[in-house]
Formats: sequence, C-alpha cells, structure tokens
Amino acid sequence: MNGTSDILIIGGGIIGLSIAIELKLRGADVTVISRNFEEAATNAAGGMLAPGAERIPSGAMFDLCWRSLDLYPEWISKLEEIAGKNTGYWPCGILTPVCDLEPGEKSQFKNANCQWLDRDSIHQRQPGLNSEVIGGWWYGKDAQVDNRLLFATLQEAAKLLKINLIAGIVGEIIEEKGRVKKVKSSGGDLSANSYVLAAGSWCNRLMSVPVIPRKGEMLSLIVPQKYLEKREEGNIDWLPLKQVLYGKDGCYIIPRLDGRIVIGATSEDVGFSNGNTVAGIQTLLGKAVRSYPVLKDFKIDELWWGFRPATPDEMPILGYSDRSNLILATGHYRNGILLAPVTAMLIANLIGAKHSDPLLDAFDYSRFAR
Ligand code: GLY
Repeated sequence: MNGTSDILIIGGGIIGLSIAIELKLRGADVTVISRNFEEAATNAAGGMLAPGAERIPSGAMFDLCWRSLDLYPEWISKLEEIAGKNTGYWPCGILTPVCDLEPGEKSQFKNANCQWLDRDSIHQRQPGLNSEVIGGWWYGKDAQVDNRLLFATLQEAAKLLKINLIAGIVGEIIEEKGRVKKVKSSGGDLSANSYVLAAGSWCNRLMSVPVIPRKGEMLSLIVPQKYLEKREEGNIDWLPLKQVLYGKDGCYIIPRLDGRIVIGATSEDVGFSNGNTVAGIQTLLGKAVRSYPVLKDFKIDELWWGFRPATPDEMPILGYSDRSNLILATGHYRNGILLAPVTAMLIANLIGAKHSDPLLDAFDYSRFAR
C-alpha cells in the first residue's frame, strides 16, 4: 500500500498517538505507522506523574514537566470523552518514606511542591509502613494514570477520529535536498508534507539520534480477597494503599483503583534484552516489602519489562531535525507518560500553527552537537 497524508507519525506509543490526536483535532490529515502498537514503552510504564517525587531540578525540564502535569486533567477529560473510556487518572499524591535523614536533606528538598511529614503524620497518612520510617516527603500535586488504560483510550480515540493507523515496520527514511521525501515501510512507501519521528527507543534504528534503551523490569501484585470484597466504585477506603510510595532507593509502589499494585522499576543498560531476571524481580520485591511490609502476603499478578528511551542528559528531544520537514519527539526517558500532553501541544503548535515555543529551545537535538 502506498499512501500520502499531511503528517506521517512514525511511532504509535503514547507520544506518537498524543501528537496524532492533537493534530487531527486541529483539522490535519494524519497517519501513524507503528511496528507494533502493543510493544511501546507506554504499556510497560508505571504511569506515575511525578515531577515532584522524581526531584526534577529547576530549569527547562522542570518547566516542561510541571506544565504537562497542569495540562493533565483537561487532556484526560477530552480523551475520555472522545473514546468513551476511563484512564484511571488519579491525583493521589506520592509519599517518599524516609528511614535515615541525610544531613541537610530537610532544607535541600523543602519547596512549594513537597511537604515534610514527621513520624506520626506519615504513619497516620499511610498505615502499614516499615516501623523504622521516621518521616517522609509528601508530594501532594503528583498523580498517576493507569498507563495501559490511557493507551487503550488513545488508540480508541485515534480510531474514532479516523486517524489512519498502520501496523508496519519503517525500513528507511528517504531524503532529497535536505527534506524527507518518503519512508519505505513493510506496507509500502508512505509520503507526507511533514514527518514526526516518535519511535522512542527504536528511533536510532532509523536515524542518528542519541537515544538508547534503558530497560525497566516491573511486576504487579493483587490485593488479597479480604480487601477486594469491600471494593466500592468511586471510593478508595477499601484500598490498603491510598497513594504512591516512592522510596529513595528508586523503588515505587503504585496502587491501582482495581486492586492491583504495580512495583517498579529497575534501570538497566542491557540494550534490547528481553525478559525478566531473577535479580531484577528479587531486588524490586526486597525494596518494596522493606518499605511496605504488608505486601509480603499479596499474590503476584504479572511480570513485565520495557525500554525507556534515554538521552545523554535525560531530557527529551523535541523540535525540527536537520531535515526541514522532519520533527523529533523522542527521548522522554522516565517521563513519557507525564510529558505526553505538553509534547502533543508543543509539537502540534510547531507543525500546525508554525509556532515554536521558547521552551523548545532547550530540547533541540542540536544540543548534543555543541
Ligand atoms: N517513571 C518511572 C520509571 O521510568 O521507572
């Protein structure tokens, strides 16, 4: 099949689909090609929306992350309405329990986005924590979304909006006079006026971008029957864990509204090495049970892994490439789910309204050449 559209997006994960939907809603004719719509990092993520708990330092990345968090409620309402689906968006806040306070930690991290809780307050807020917890940080603005539900919502919205979704492998990007002329794919040649490369960790198979896969192993548990029996729609009282726990050891424990608990994630430089490892899962379970011992009686539900698209400075690459009609939207690393709405808005402005937000300057790919 050969085809032409206004905009061709290479990559059907959360970033590609979010951009496609934003452009389509503004009237563009959009095609998305993805090697496997189910393999995207989106499905593997934890869905934390955590600019606070991830301790993003001030600067452009901080501004980008907080701007995206602000966009979330409205963006989610819009998508849920289009698709008629629920995404599990939950502004539940994130708690970082602390057993040993480092010298200067209290003054270093105290800011408008987090609050120190003393021993009594933290155990009151979340019963069942390790008794050695002496206090902790409360990130009340941080939130979560069920990334798999969000992904299903984006896919449904894309279908209902009649975005052309093609499952196929892009083999080569063909250029002529500094522009992309077409892409060769397993489904035939595809051409467009503008192209967006949003293929996450797989981008550097198509062009030279400094994005490498950083593997994350994860698992989920299911809360015991005694809790599930008390389950009530629209009420969280029955859940043993009522906010995300995010340890200073990097382990996070995310309660879902359906009774699953997601635990993540390792961070491994092993290329595209598939599969869960004993060491990875053992490390995660050890950290999670230490932080929240109640988990030791919960049943294991599922194990999985994914590949975060990492750049050398851990910031995304957003904006035009050195091909005048090719835009890059990749390298979101640990924050792809969080950054989807702002990425969609900024890239749609760049293509549709030809407006380059000054915030994009810090994310230009040319920073790596400097
Ligand atoms: N956003 C958390 C992670 O990448 O593991």
